[in-house]
Amino acid sequence: MNTGAEAVETAIKICRKWAYEKKGIPENKAKIIVCENNFHGRTTTIISFSNDPVANTHFGPFTPGFERIPYDDLGALEEALKDENVAGFLVEPIQGEAGVFVPSDGYLKGAARMCNERNVLFIADEVQTGIARTGDLLAVNHEDVNPDILILGKAVSGGVYPVSAVLADDEVMNVIGPGQHGSTFGGNPLAAKVAVAALEVVKEENLAENASYLGKLFRAEMDKIIEKTDLVSKVRGRGLLNAILINDTEDSSTAWDICMAMKENGLLAKPTHGNIIRFAPPLVMTEEQLLDCVAIIEKTLMEFKK
Ligand SMILES: Cc1ncc(COP(=O)(O)O)c(C=O)c1O
Repeated sequence: MNTGAEAVETAIKICRKWAYEKKGIPENKAKIIVCENNFHGRTTTIISFSNDPVANTHFGPFTPGFERIPYDDLGALEEALKDENVAGFLVEPIQGEAGVFVPSDGYLKGAARMCNERNVLFIADEVQTGIARTGDLLAVNHEDVNPDILILGKAVSGGVYPVSAVLADDEVMNVIGPGQHGSTFGGNPLAAKVAVAALEVVKEENLAENASYLGKLFRAEMDKIIEKTDLVSKVRGRGLLNAILINDTEDSSTAWDICMAMKENGLLAKPTHGNIIRFAPPLVMTEEQLLDCVAIIEKTLMEFKK
């Protein structure tokens, strides 16, 4: 497909069709479990299961068939899976847009196992975390999880061309027959070629290892800065997907104002929800460039006045 949202829509369609044709769920009863504070894109169906008012206010009526449970909560998942009409569990291995929430160790593995036991498809949305961003090719690799459906976008083309993809074994994928899904530019040859070239670069230039190494360095440097200022309470993340938590109320503009000040000093970053600033720099960055960025962040924070 072309965009991440289209890939998520594709995964939902595959999951539902699998539910009726393979699992035997009664027609129109299939349910997909999703998480609080999810971000999976901006189409009508996807915003139907968002709890972000910015994403869904005045865009109803919404698509039914989704149930939201808290993120990083295996107990809540276990409860939700008791419904026999559950077809899939759609989850971000790290919630990027919500503020780079890294779940507890074992969450993804536990969730995948529980889904497997209940014959429910474990659907990983790796549009933001996939392709070396978190220091491994996929974020699920950190826990040796093999999703039933894997959703990729953004970095699959190195960010230069709209390409997204949904991967699954034949048993799942083949529920879609000719003419049942597609789009004008889906699977176009140029996009496919760009994606293959980008993936080769990721491999040849060891970008996953680079992200892992630089991410650890970034968080260690941020921890040192946090000791010197009350403005930031925490740094968290994995690989080169990180965030700092700003010490202020959720609705204040402090994170935004800091981003504006960083821009003046030569670094672009954007707040996510709440008072959180996300850093997702290019994976080709060098150690020297990373330390330059750290210096800009430190200078900005030290000079910042609310
Ligand atoms: C986890 C996740 N899924 C889906 C999307 C949607 O991708 P797109 O903006 O390409 O539609 C995003 C975009 O940030 C995302 O982070």
